[in-house]
Amino acid sequence: MNEQAAMPRAGSVFREEYGHFIGGEWVGASGGETITQYNPATGEALARIQSGTPDDVRKAVAAARAAFPKWSRSTASERQELLMEIAARLKRRHADFARMESMNNGKPLSEAMFLDVPESWGQFELFAGAAFSLHGATRDYPGSVGLVHREALGVVAQIIPWNVPLAMASMKLAPALAAGNTVVLKPAETVCLSVLELIAEIADILPPGVVNVVTGYGHAIGETLVTHPEVRKVAFTGSTGTARRIIQYAAQNIIPQTMELGGKSANIVCADADLDAAAASAALTTVFNKGEVCMAGSRVFVHRSVKEAFLEKFRQAVEAVEVGDPLREGTRLGAMASRAQYDKVLSYLDIARAEGATFVTGGEAARGGDLDKGLFIKPTILDDVHNGMRVAREEIFGPVTSVIAWDDEDDVLRQANDSRYGLAGAIWTRDIARAHRMARELETGIIWINNYYDLPQGMPVGGYKESGYGRESTWDILKDYTITKSVIVNLRS
Ligand code: NAI
Ligand code: MG
Repeated sequence: MNEQAAMPRAGSVFREEYGHFIGGEWVGASGGETITQYNPATGEALARIQSGTPDDVRKAVAAARAAFPKWSRSTASERQELLMEIAARLKRRHADFARMESMNNGKPLSEAMFLDVPESWGQFELFAGAAFSLHGATRDYPGSVGLVHREALGVVAQIIPWNVPLAMASMKLAPALAAGNTVVLKPAETVCLSVLELIAEIADILPPGVVNVVTGYGHAIGETLVTHPEVRKVAFTGSTGTARRIIQYAAQNIIPQTMELGGKSANIVCADADLDAAAASAALTTVFNKGEVCMAGSRVFVHRSVKEAFLEKFRQAVEAVEVGDPLREGTRLGAMASRAQYDKVLSYLDIARAEGATFVTGGEAARGGDLDKGLFIKPTILDDVHNGMRVAREEIFGPVTSVIAWDDEDDVLRQANDSRYGLAGAIWTRDIARAHRMARELETGIIWINNYYDLPQGMPVGGYKESGYGRESTWDILKDYTITKSVIVNLRS
């Protein structure tokens, strides 16, 4: 990629430069440094964002704090109306937002149209419905009555990654706002233009200070944000390593955290599975969003008796995938989101070679013609992998899937659970009792039976073990964005 190409191209859908959004205004960073956002499929510079400083963070928290008393006392109707209007605006500009997400992240436009943008407005609709259902409780005792009030927390910090930025921002903002909190959102420095454009789209309807956005590097501003004495909660999605740091920051003022982290999910194919469907689905989870998905089914466990037949179908399905220009219709695998991610995936292909995996297909960068301008990697299937290898234990976050053989149910359950992670997974079988028996034993937050990546709005999303804690995309998360107060009234005179 040409790092020198600092100017956005003519006719860009983006502004040349974005400020932070603080107290309802776009403001430049005090340090004046900027970060360039790229199109990873072409190497073109798209826009510049501010490289935030601790001072920017303090201003954003102050604005959020100032907006809190009024917003936390708004009516449910006001909050519902705001969330429904945000959803409506995303719907109205469905194709625009899909195009922005595709250009900045490298994902196929068809995926952004089908998933990212509808998922985003769906979050606002889901929590618009919740605004009216938030309430406390009463309890009756012989000599007293107890009132349990449910209150907003205050200023919440939300830190999100670059793989599905618009959907992540929506998943974070919608419940926080429904519950009456004010927000300082820090999107990823790598990919965040759709998030800034969402804010630009809704700036006229957001009460000033209710949502503030500070852009920049996590190492430069993350600690100031999370340890700020006025910040009452942190919600994070990203890597397990960064999560550990944020949890330490959160320890300073004892603030609650919700964490949605990595995965190495098991996609289990039984001997009686519909092998065509399982292979097509395994190909989908290999290439969907370039494999830059926390829930990717990156360990495929296949029963030994059907492994050869499955592998042949899986190979054909992966080799049929068109790699290339994300904006072209028909493309199913786009560009890795950043140079760092591209390098990381290529380094895991070297690790796979060194560990003795067999490459069924792929295994290198995709080159030739326009592909040379961008960060493209061939979809890759690794065979002869065992569960102890690094490619089976570590999150690669790329279009790379490992295939592992299994012999009996106990064996595959043991192997599937032998992971630091536990975010998602699937079981392919026609035996309903077996499906439920295995689902019950798997240490993971989401399990599909005979499917992958079907996530209807409202189903809880979150992990076991090092995949994190907290359940998003569901009304349950409102408990994490509120706090209760017990008031006990003496009835004796
Ligand atoms: P990261 O976890 O470092 O970045 C995610 C967010 O955290 C970004 O907004 C970043 O600026 C922020 N951040 C970084 N350091 C911080 C700090 N000290 N304090 C506060 N915020 C901080 O992820 P990164 O480095 O971009 O990707 C590395 C790997 O993490 C990927 O290859 C992938 O395996 C995993 N990952 C998992 C994601 C998921 O959805 N679970 C999303 C993104 C990355
Ligand atoms: Mg990092």
